[in-house]
Amino acid sequence: MRRVTTKRELRAALSMSAQGGGKRRVLVPTMGALHAGHAALLRQAREIAGEDGVVVASVFLNPTQFDRAGDLASYPRTPDEDTAICEACGVDILFMPDAQEMYRSDRSMSVEETQLSRVLCGAKRPGHFAGVCLVVSKLFNMVQPSDAVFGKKDFQQLAILRRMVRDLDFPIHLHGAPIVREKDGLAVSSRNVRLSAQQRANAPQLYAALVRGREAYMGGTPAGRVCEEVRRDLESLPEVRVDYVQMVHPDNLLDIEPQSSGELPALLAAAVFFGEVRLIDNVEIIQN
Ligand code: PAF
Repeated sequence: MRRVTTKRELRAALSMSAQGGGKRRVLVPTMGALHAGHAALLRQAREIAGEDGVVVASVFLNPTQFDRAGDLASYPRTPDEDTAICEACGVDILFMPDAQEMYRSDRSMSVEETQLSRVLCGAKRPGHFAGVCLVVSKLFNMVQPSDAVFGKKDFQQLAILRRMVRDLDFPIHLHGAPIVREKDGLAVSSRNVRLSAQQRANAPQLYAALVRGREAYMGGTPAGRVCEEVRRDLESLPEVRVDYVQMVHPDNLLDIEPQSSGELPALLAAAVFFGEVRLIDNVEIIQN
């Protein structure tokens, strides 16, 4: 594996790896603090690339997508462990730039999606998805991948990036990777290490409540009531503040009508604060 920190080194590594031609180049963008969920993305990328393809991972803690300064400051940074995980998962090129390398101080461009990013997390985190679109479009331009892999835990992010690829004509195929969960159901996340013992013990209730909600919807309970019940379950836990619980269409992220009880496919999604730590999760509801 080659580890590079500048755009110039990245270009050199990519052009060396391109000799032979016609190979797939698969990008996995990350913000570091890699865990089992990222390892699954990297392995999926390796599979898509095949033996003669090239897997590129980026580790960049992107300041433009943080709406709360405290969140950026407390985000875990583990570059040595990240490097070891990338190596073990078969990454060919690891790009680890710093903020000066990625952003000029007089930067004046933005990349904004104006529909899907207004709902769910976007409604609660102003500017977040513009920061994601900006950094991902820059990485797409720098790496010029044929494919890119993103996790489905950040379902809204994936939907927005699909829209960006479609509307801005990036010739890149996006792959959504299934959510990786701990044994007790909690979705693996870099934020989990910030939970106290008590919050960690309660956190699996987020997924459990969503699964109960999915069952209720499949059993005929209308979408609006499902969301209320999931919210009530979660609010009964100590130190929990529900940011949102919503049932939406997975492609356009528009709300399913509250009275509707059979509209499929649907996505039941929630964001919940356990103390100061905001966790998100979702379950897809599709025809069996
Ligand atoms: O999902 C993430 O970790 C980030 O939003 C991404 C896609 C790497 C952009 O910084």
